[in-house]
Amino acid sequence: MNTHSPLISGLLSRCRFGEGPLDCALSGGPDSSALVALAVASGREVTAHHVNHHSRDTSSVDEALAREIAAQLGVQIEVHHAEVASGPNFEARARAARRQLLPSTVATGHTMDDQAETVLLNLMRGTGIDGLRAMELGPRHPILDLRREETLAICVELQLAVALDPTNASPEFSRNRVRLEVLPMLADIASRDVVPLLARLAAVSAEEVDFLEAEALAQIPEVTDVSSLREAPAVLARRRLRGWLRRLDGDGEHPPSLAELERVLDVVENRSRSTQLAGKRSVHRRGGRLRLEQDNPPSLSEVSTTDPTLPPAWAPAEVGSAVVTPEQLQLRIAELGAQITADYPDDPPLLVGVLKGAMMFMTDLSRCIELPVDVDFMAVSSYGSATATSGVVRIIKDLEADLLNRHVIVVEDIIDSGLTLNYLLRYLNARQPKSLQVCALFLKEGMQRVHVDYRYVGFTIPSTFVVGYGLDVDERLRNLPTVYTYLPHQG
Ligand code: IMP
Ligand code: MG
Repeated sequence: MNTHSPLISGLLSRCRFGEGPLDCALSGGPDSSALVALAVASGREVTAHHVNHHSRDTSSVDEALAREIAAQLGVQIEVHHAEVASGPNFEARARAARRQLLPSTVATGHTMDDQAETVLLNLMRGTGIDGLRAMELGPRHPILDLRREETLAICVELQLAVALDPTNASPEFSRNRVRLEVLPMLADIASRDVVPLLARLAAVSAEEVDFLEAEALAQIPEVTDVSSLREAPAVLARRRLRGWLRRLDGDGEHPPSLAELERVLDVVENRSRSTQLAGKRSVHRRGGRLRLEQDNPPSLSEVSTTDPTLPPAWAPAEVGSAVVTPEQLQLRIAELGAQITADYPDDPPLLVGVLKGAMMFMTDLSRCIELPVDVDFMAVSSYGSATATSGVVRIIKDLEADLLNRHVIVVEDIIDSGLTLNYLLRYLNARQPKSLQVCALFLKEGMQRVHVDYRYVGFTIPSTFVVGYGLDVDERLRNLPTVYTYLPHQG
């Protein structure tokens, strides 16, 4: 077939084919058929590649048409077979299958119209300027500067029996709606064809993005180097970090979110030492360097091989061994929850947590009670010296709930002398609850100076000072995972 005509040589001057043999994807539609025709006209030795998806009714017809077009244009054709099950996300899965089967350098017949659609689709996905560059004119996309009507004109002139993809009209695919609804509407409002505008935006963006990328590399040659990240303009630092923190997984590439980037910049600027990122990763700063770590949470078997009575590495030296392991703690709390569940089948109690010490216990206990309980908090502080309670208590935060005729359980962290709780119980009893009970996680053996019936007690422990799991020393160490002994004169 003669591919030399004024129409074709005119269009060829706007294409960018390189040198040497060329693999072209050929679906059998007008764009890919025109691509093959133009490649032949450019003097390249062309091999056409067709992927049969075996998923549409027309799959075998498409393959036959592609073979026919290749024969008409006098090129070799290779047919690849993919098995793509129909169902959700079909286009994406078909594209992935094609990418696997076709040579990695294969040229595709994307046109300027495809480019404009891609720019808009990328915008709709929330792209930054990097996504505005879309595709690039060159060996992979040699006919990117042609319009769709021009590829069709080539097929008409060469009398190629092209296939028209019936799914091109289906509104199920966003790309089709952008082509059939968005672009015509934009053209209508702007009173001009916006496709060349979007294509120009893509080309200019590509140049500017390349420039920024080169500049970022020049100013921050080593992305983990904190001082060059701090000295460079923030746009370049962000750009370098974005590239570094890009994550690859099953469904493609994920750049870090803006919020993640800002947190990493906080680490760079010394406002924090480390930060967590999506994908169980974290960035740390040590000795003027950033380190990206994959945080593999230990599996249960690993947890049980490390000594559960040891405090975490960050705990100060005064923190001794665990009074109960985290596991024992949770098991006992589940038992207490089950007991309370059984004791109040018809009239669920109001749980009154005593802040701040009971914060952890309250949240864990309440989740082990299988009743629709109410939750409220009080905050108290005892008068007296730091080490000995006087039994006189100041209410810092009172309850919001009305106690009249309700079952009430006071949830306490630890009972030492019992004076604090004794005061509190008298105060609450004056509000005439239906019943008033105590649920304390720890009871210090033999230390109580008043007699109170403690209905629910988690553990009885020897009389030593303990911290963690809500219990503090000077307001610190409440966040330790369980309760540990605290020996102030050590370390
Ligand atoms: P009590 O009036 O002597 O029973 O004092 C109880 C309160 O003192 C608890 O609610 C805790 O806030 C605090 N407390 C008692 N023992 C410890 C301890 O070993 N570690 C931390 N706080 C404690
Ligand atoms: Mg307390």
